[in-house]
Amino acid sequence: MKIQAVKGTRDFYPEDMARRNFIIDGWKTASIRNGFAEFDGPIFEYLAMYQQKSGDEIASQLFAFEDRGERMLAIRPEITPTLARMVNQRINTLPRPIKWFSVPRLCRAERPQKGRLREFFQWNVDIIGVDDCLADAEVIFCAVDYLMAAGLGSDDIIVRISSRRLLASLLEYFGIEESQLDKVYAVLDKKAKVPAEAFEKMLEETISDADKREKVLKLMAAESLVELEEFAGNDEKAKLAVDELKRLFEYLNVMGITEFCKFDIGIVRGLAYYTGIVYEIYDKSQQLRAICGGGRYDNLLADFGGPKISATGMGMGDCVLGIVLEEKGIFSKVGVYGACEYFVAYADDSLRNDALNIVAKLRKAGKVTDFSYKGGGLGKQLKQASTVGAKECVLVGQEFAEKKQLIIKDMASGEQKAVSDADFFALIKR
Ligand code: HAM
Repeated sequence: MKIQAVKGTRDFYPEDMARRNFIIDGWKTASIRNGFAEFDGPIFEYLAMYQQKSGDEIASQLFAFEDRGERMLAIRPEITPTLARMVNQRINTLPRPIKWFSVPRLCRAERPQKGRLREFFQWNVDIIGVDDCLADAEVIFCAVDYLMAAGLGSDDIIVRISSRRLLASLLEYFGIEESQLDKVYAVLDKKAKVPAEAFEKMLEETISDADKREKVLKLMAAESLVELEEFAGNDEKAKLAVDELKRLFEYLNVMGITEFCKFDIGIVRGLAYYTGIVYEIYDKSQQLRAICGGGRYDNLLADFGGPKISATGMGMGDCVLGIVLEEKGIFSKVGVYGACEYFVAYADDSLRNDALNIVAKLRKAGKVTDFSYKGGGLGKQLKQASTVGAKECVLVGQEFAEKKQLIIKDMASGEQKAVSDADFFALIKR
């Protein structure tokens, strides 16, 4: 029987692993640079945790199973509920604000498509315990900071920002019941993702009143915060939400990333728990699904039995990001091998043990070192040295047998110099 990999999963051969590590190392470095501490949780949790608060879409994509104790469990489709659970457990002892990051491997039984798989890695950055939208600005900055460090600029990516609080207040102002809001959000989130007719049909099924529907469609066509202020009129809640967005844009301006950021009423977010500012990052070609999504979720900790503490954060997956990094040529610089410092080559088999001894000494001195098992001529071994990206080649030839002399070849310039074994190792140790 020929066994294949499961649909929507990936095998990571060394070249894929090098790319995955390039992404994940960059995420971790950016998190630390921005003052976040790493956490992780289990890869499965009680099924009910995701059914309760993640929303219908994620609930329908769960890999769920029953364990031998008849407990219903699910593989994590996201880590935000785990984060809320973990923070609640230690809420009285954790120093605030809580600034945590994580890079979980997640599973969602989605229909596999470009940029969306059934198993992926997702960088999460969250701040708990800060009401002010400065925390939202900091999370957005952290995401943009990473993307810039990876080599992307404002010509490549865009952060599209809106506010659930603003949308909620305007929808309520139009006469839509609070209890209907989650259903309406789920439809509005699909606006840019499905054809116009399909969207209008979904909207019709959710909002039966034609007048209200008309108002919602007009609102969704608004292009600027100024237009939104007109919609808000004298509605206090809507005005406060507009003010908050303005403050957020001021912070982003002070942080110097305005050119990456744009207000977009169409950003609603699929997950049910968001309460305030929401955003998604896209590649500028707009051909791909979101690179990143996040927002404020001020009720989740309380919903999970903890105190009412505000929270905000984002998740960035490795799939769409990988496609963008590939398209921009950034992956072409990522090598399969580590930074090989020395490749030890030997002229013939009689020198193999001497070479092996030098390899061991270099490795013990902390140097990334490689050599050929087969030997078989210096030309062949030098080729292997270039394949593994060695910086220098240590040639063990007859001079070594006769007077313990090594030839050191700089692989970039091709320059060679003779040096005694003792001098070479004295230099290495220094
Ligand atoms: P999300 O929008 O469901 O949010 O996912 C965030 C990002 O994860 C997406 O923009 C995408 O890059 C990636 N992603 C999601 N599903 C898939 C998939 N099937 N295949 C590949 N990549 C995927 C959340 O998960 C929130 N928990 C983020 C968050 C953290 N909000 C606050 N804190």
